[in-house]
Amino acid sequence: MEPTADDASEPIVASGDTESQEPPKTLVDWALEILSTADPDEKARLGDLAASRWLRGDIPLPYDPSRPARPPPDRPARSADVRLLPPSRMHKLGKGGSAQSRLAMLHSLAHTESWAVDLSWDIVARFGAGMRMPRGFFDDFARVAQDEGRHYTVLSARLRELGSHYGALPAHDGLWDSAMRTSHSLLARLAVEHCVHEARGLDVLPTTISRFRAGGDEQTARLLEDIIYPEEVTHCAAGVRWFRYLCLRSDGNHPTSYPVPGDGTADGKTAREAEDEPTPILSKDVSSDDKMVQQVEDDLPSRIAEDANGQVKATEHVEDGLAKCKLDENIDKDEEAVIRIFHGVVREYFRGPLKPPFNTEARKAAGFEPAWYEPLAVKEACIEGEIIE
Ligand SMILES: [Fe+2]
Ligand SMILES: [Fe+2]
Repeated sequence: MEPTADDASEPIVASGDTESQEPPKTLVDWALEILSTADPDEKARLGDLAASRWLRGDIPLPYDPSRPARPPPDRPARSADVRLLPPSRMHKLGKGGSAQSRLAMLHSLAHTESWAVDLSWDIVARFGAGMRMPRGFFDDFARVAQDEGRHYTVLSARLRELGSHYGALPAHDGLWDSAMRTSHSLLARLAVEHCVHEARGLDVLPTTISRFRAGGDEQTARLLEDIIYPEEVTHCAAGVRWFRYLCLRSDGNHPTSYPVPGDGTADGKTAREAEDEPTPILSKDVSSDDKMVQQVEDDLPSRIAEDANGQVKATEHVEDGLAKCKLDENIDKDEEAVIRIFHGVVREYFRGPLKPPFNTEARKAAGFEPAWYEPLAVKEACIEGEIIE
């Protein structure tokens, strides 16, 4: 089922708007090219090609340290054929009880996956060089981007099989908003997009699958169940992994200037190697020219103190009766500190509480344990001043 675009006979760059008009050389160059490509099918095809080449070792460098990196566009190029509407003007998708509702659900899923392609390449282009991320970071998000392109491709093909196409219906115009809000902070981007949103997808996908199945569309149900769902677990895992890495990184690799000198490979460590390092330094010891990251980090002692002082202690249960919202006593100190930072960043950058019920099993498979997210579900009760017993 996996489409492959890595065919040497194919034109490498068929669209886009490069300044140099030179073919992409580094993975970041590829990411910029893909973000500048409006056609969603071509965007997915180029992404598959770039990821395949990167993961095979055919693209030597993640970025070129000898020249300034171009910033990615604030908003990636998108096809004008897809009419965008503000969320408030979107029709309800329904619950899949009619063919029309299932088509609207499928169209919405394809739209989300297309944005996920842009989101994956944006994190590579926006943060990879500036934050001196190691190769493992580029590997992970190239894989995520390739997956998202595959998801878009199979869903848009399914739309065509059903006599429709991507762009036949209006689409939600708010999907890039949270990306914009986190465009200055890799910590915030990882937390909000690649942990919170990806995990939310895991929560709702089983219901979506059962709606297609109940409506008699077994083929779409199988696409979601067999291809998309298991890969979304790995996307959440990548977010958690790199958030943890940033919190524990102790080698002074945070940027003091941009672009960065060096060999373009940062410290050459994989995330696993970095996580194995025995010298975790928490964020208060980390220097960074990312002011917003610094702001969050500066604010952490008080946030940690808030938690420690029991800001959320009064609300011990989430709505569906999940376990008490406190960190397990068996969690080691480093992990506990990382989780505290995560809570601070999500409270700062994600609007509203996390919504239970959670898909605890899938989240756990992604390394996203309840201690990371359960306390954030209580926020609603705290904000609204009502304690759910
Ligand atoms: Fe996806
Ligand atoms: Fe995903």
